[in-house]
Amino acid sequence: MDEVEQIKQKLNIVDVIQEYLPLKKSGVNFKANCPFHQETSPSFMVSPERGIWHCFGCSVGGDIFKFIMDKEGIEFKDALEILAKKAGITLKTSSKKDRDGTERLFEVNQKAQQFFHYILTEHTLGKPALNYLKKRGLTDESIKEFGIGYAPMSWDSLTNFLKKRGFTVGEMIASSLCVPSKRGCYDRFRGRIVFPLMDVRGRILGFSGRILLKGEPKYTNTSQTAIFDKSKFLFGIHLAKGAIKEKSEAILVEGEMDMIMSFQSGIKNIVASKGTALTESQIELLKRYTDTLDLCFDTDLAGDAASRRGIEIADKAGMNLKVVKLSGAKDPAEVCLKDPKEWEDAVAQSIPIYDYYLGSVSHRFDPKSAVGKKQIYAEVLPIWKKISDLVVQDHYVQKLAALLQVKDDLIRKDLKTISTLPSQALVPAKDDRVNPDLIGVKVSDRKKLLEEYLLSLLLHLPDDITYVPNFPETLFNEESLRQIYVLLVLYLDSIAFKGKSFRITEFIATLPKELTEIVDKFYLLEIDEKLEESVLWQKEVGNVITEMKRILIKSSLEILSLQIKSAQEFERPETLEVLNRKFRDLSLKLKNLS
Ligand code: CTP
Ligand code: MN
Repeated sequence: MDEVEQIKQKLNIVDVIQEYLPLKKSGVNFKANCPFHQETSPSFMVSPERGIWHCFGCSVGGDIFKFIMDKEGIEFKDALEILAKKAGITLKTSSKKDRDGTERLFEVNQKAQQFFHYILTEHTLGKPALNYLKKRGLTDESIKEFGIGYAPMSWDSLTNFLKKRGFTVGEMIASSLCVPSKRGCYDRFRGRIVFPLMDVRGRILGFSGRILLKGEPKYTNTSQTAIFDKSKFLFGIHLAKGAIKEKSEAILVEGEMDMIMSFQSGIKNIVASKGTALTESQIELLKRYTDTLDLCFDTDLAGDAASRRGIEIADKAGMNLKVVKLSGAKDPAEVCLKDPKEWEDAVAQSIPIYDYYLGSVSHRFDPKSAVGKKQIYAEVLPIWKKISDLVVQDHYVQKLAALLQVKDDLIRKDLKTISTLPSQALVPAKDDRVNPDLIGVKVSDRKKLLEEYLLSLLLHLPDDITYVPNFPETLFNEESLRQIYVLLVLYLDSIAFKGKSFRITEFIATLPKELTEIVDKFYLLEIDEKLEESVLWQKEVGNVITEMKRILIKSSLEILSLQIKSAQEFERPETLEVLNRKFRDLSLKLKNLS
């Protein structure tokens, strides 16, 4: 048995997932509100027997490894480490082997951090930097907690330090700590305060360096490396994630100093984006902990296209967005230094992003003049168009109408007709799904749902039943479902013969690989607990089959009546007679069904 299997056997998936969210028993399975998308009724299902989970709302699923990977935002090999530890298993294929060299990058960063931190806190070279940080309000505790350091004004002090500790020039360059040169490399960070940039697990991915004295650029960052990607990074997440989850709200600021000062003054649910507009990966990371985001940026979010794009992404991901406004031109770091209470109040008074937009436009344009109205309308309407929640959208249609003193129906009409930007075209709009043949769609949708439900029912065969009601396999339209049904009937025959009762895991073990995933998915569909009782189960299965037959017959009747019409039109009496007979037979069948 390989390590993955061993871990799966040792750990109960329900216990592992329970550490992240409360699960409720539901028949043989467990359920919860999905942690990967926003919902109010649970569609996240877990099967302890199969060791799998699946969300029917956002269609993601897998085993414990996949869960930890998605929840923690980590790669398989990290999930393996975490779960092996939980299961008390020592991994043979230890990651120490470090095939891709990333482990060495973490190590070199770790060593560099120790060096920088030592210089700042213990060495005379670090004194001016330490004084500067103290002047800005940082405590010794914060300096320690965030692992802040100082890179001396020198071309080779870090390089020499790392060389002595066995790191190669290649590793120093690969980690972006050093810059390649003719003679090897030189220190990237010189005369700068350095902030370690850490991932959710607290591992050091890289550094940002703030110049101590005046100079350009103000900040220098680790460039893209095998372990650091600025677009996926949020400063402070490893320390803030607990508080974010607890408050179910995250504050997003621009700078390291803003984040640290807020954290230090007790507002701990905060991360910094390091001055860039929000990316999809950053939203994904945050969504693991919360659905509500309070933005506090120096720039005018409404006036800045890059911020708007970030906001649009967050909105689409189902985030509730708010804006924290600061009076004056100060940033959160300054406010915290002056009066932490003021920062606390500002956060408490955050306003929904769309109200903020309205405030911003009525500041920049005159909502009373015709020209101003036109400008506001042109700027706001495309933004309103992109509000993904329709109730929220309508709320702001009314607000905009009130601001401009126009009829809200006018805005609704324009919202329908304005085209969205090309960026939007990637995601199909909700109304793209409207099909002219609406009735046909509804019927086949319902049929599909019934097929799926029937299969789930069959997979939840009560213990005291070892056969499934006989019905033609052609009742399943969907090829894969039909195959599963046939295999199930065959399997039940074989176990009935041996006098065994049905076990889902044993059945799945007999299936070809491409079907197991489908069976797992339908096994996880929520089935009413009452249906564990065999009499009720049989009744339910019977009802579903009848309903499916009814749908099939009805649609055949519809087709027949069209054919009859055309046979009448083209005067083809023999055909007409055959068709009429078929129609009568089917109608009788339909009547007998109920
Ligand atoms: N930034 C960066 N590279 C730069 C400038 C800025 O990565 N050349 C990032 C830093 O993370 C910085 C943030 O953008 O914290 C915001 O920039 P800015 O407002 O200029 O700096 P402050 O955060 O105000 O820095 P400080 O408080 O130290 O003056
Ligand atoms: Mn600042």
